[in-house]
Amino acid sequence: MNDGARVLVVYESMFGCTESVARAVAEGLAEGGFTVDLENVRDAEGPGGRSFDLLVLGAPTHAFSLSRPSTRLDAVRQGAPAEAATTGVREWLAGTKGRDGRPAAAFDTRVTKTRRLPKAASTRAARLLRRRGFRIVERPTAFLVADVQGPLVDGELERARGWGIRLAHDHAPGLPGAAAG
Ligand SMILES: Cc1cc2nc3c(=O)[nH]c(=O)nc-3n(C[C@H](O)[C@H](O)[C@H](O)COP(=O)(O)O)c2cc1C
Repeated sequence: MNDGARVLVVYESMFGCTESVARAVAEGLAEGGFTVDLENVRDAEGPGGRSFDLLVLGAPTHAFSLSRPSTRLDAVRQGAPAEAATTGVREWLAGTKGRDGRPAAAFDTRVTKTRRLPKAASTRAARLLRRRGFRIVERPTAFLVADVQGPLVDGELERARGWGIRLAHDHAPGLPGAAAG
């Protein structure tokens, strides 16, 4: 165990798919020994001044990137609850100052047919995180949904849990094999 290692998982989700993935990732991170704070971006205080050893961001891919107010409204028109459109990971990060190389990772959800495209929510999040001074410790990772409103493709929640376990093993401070810093 690595007592005291904390991970903050912040997710954005219009139809619930990214939220389910975030919960599975959080389970894996907890299984790997982290103390996990899991927060919807709507309720999450910005990272400035908060205490964590790893930040994990999850967001749905909208127009090959992180959502914007216009794409979230588009999701609402396609059946997402209006309150889900209030804010997103892009806005959450915009208020962040440099964090001195603290470790971070990002995942997204996206539809199966675009899974190999290099531009998506997680790649955009990773770039913004770097710009804000975080150190990206894991390749931006995609989890697949069948269509805009979901559902998640079979097996993705198990994969998400496994991704969380691996992140914890590789990056929780104090564990053998964990990256320094
Ligand atoms: C406005 C809009 C734009 C989208 N653009 C993309 C896209 O460029 N690539 C993609 O793979 N999926 C795209 N999608 C599908 C979303 O990735 C999908 O709705 C999301 O993964 C579901 O996650 P959620 O339930 O957490 O919102 C788009 C969805 C919406 C509503």
